Amino acid sequence: MPNPSPPSADGLLGLVGATPLVELTRVSPRPGRLRFFAKLEGQNPSGSIKDRIALAMVLDAERRGLIGPGSTLIEASTGNTAIALAMVARRRGYHLKVVVPEGVVPSIADVLSLYGVELCWVKPKAGMVGAIEAASEMSARGEGHALRQFDNPVNVLTHMNTTGAEIAAALPRVDVFVAGIGTGGTLMGVSRRLREQNPALRVIGVEPRMGERLQGLRSLNDGYHPPLLDLDALSARYLVGSDTALNMMRRVVREEGVMAGVSCGAVLHAALQATRDLEEGIVVCMFSDGGWKYLPARPWEAAATHDPNLDETHWW
Ligand SMILES: Cc1ncc(COP(=O)(O)O)c(C=O)c1O
Repeated sequence: MPNPSPPSADGLLGLVGATPLVELTRVSPRPGRLRFFAKLEGQNPSGSIKDRIALAMVLDAERRGLIGPGSTLIEASTGNTAIALAMVARRRGYHLKVVVPEGVVPSIADVLSLYGVELCWVKPKAGMVGAIEAASEMSARGEGHALRQFDNPVNVLTHMNTTGAEIAAALPRVDVFVAGIGTGGTLMGVSRRLREQNPALRVIGVEPRMGERLQGLRSLNDGYHPPLLDLDALSARYLVGSDTALNMMRRVVREEGVMAGVSCGAVLHAALQATRDLEEGIVVCMFSDGGWKYLPARPWEAAATHDPNLDETHWW
């Protein structure tokens, strides 16, 4: 038996990033030639891709002297960023206020309460745009430091230097990269890094179909253009329905054994659509979180029955 490796000096936060990239061997229509890989961001310590930017934004604010022990952090988030920041805030000694639109999956609010996060609710109609505005106003009133994931350049840089660099190191070349559109940080940062390796890289952004909600993802048609997102850097945008995403999520669990989150279903669906005419190549799909925290909302039942109320559910 080899000696177990010594514990990381950075403890829990030292486990952020360096997530597995696994091949999805069952879903490809041309196995062995058209290869699909999933970056399993659910393996981060708080369970999503947002651990990367939560940690980086907090460390950056510390370095610039904007926050210090006991400071209050403020962020607008519908889930994963809030949970990631809750973990980072606990480890580094900050109080955290999160602005959340009413109607989020109840288990996410439960997780945040468990962490001791202060939740500030905005009306569901205000949505993420309302939440972002409320967070800015709170910060302007001196209630704390807003990290501003939607326009903080650290978001893009972190994905370029960590997520993108990890994928580039694991594969000789990537032909197609597919990820959901939230802040746009993942798409911008990862694609910038992968284009250095393959200038012909196709970059596919995934968003919810009009009027529908998909966890973590934003529709660009709802009146808010994330400032970090440069549409010219995208080769295509796919609008995916929640029932399609949920059905694909179920397929990923059953066929690939990956307990993926709802947006992963949307991303893989878009990846399969976008590569219909591609004979061979390497496709990387961003699986931003795992499916566990969505289970109390029983998403697989909604997918099976095509629940007409689905559009009202915040699957974000
Ligand atoms: C669960 C989840 N959260 C957030 C995001 C958005 O990431 P970003 O804010 O980097 O655009 C995604 C994108 O796929 C996601 O699936």
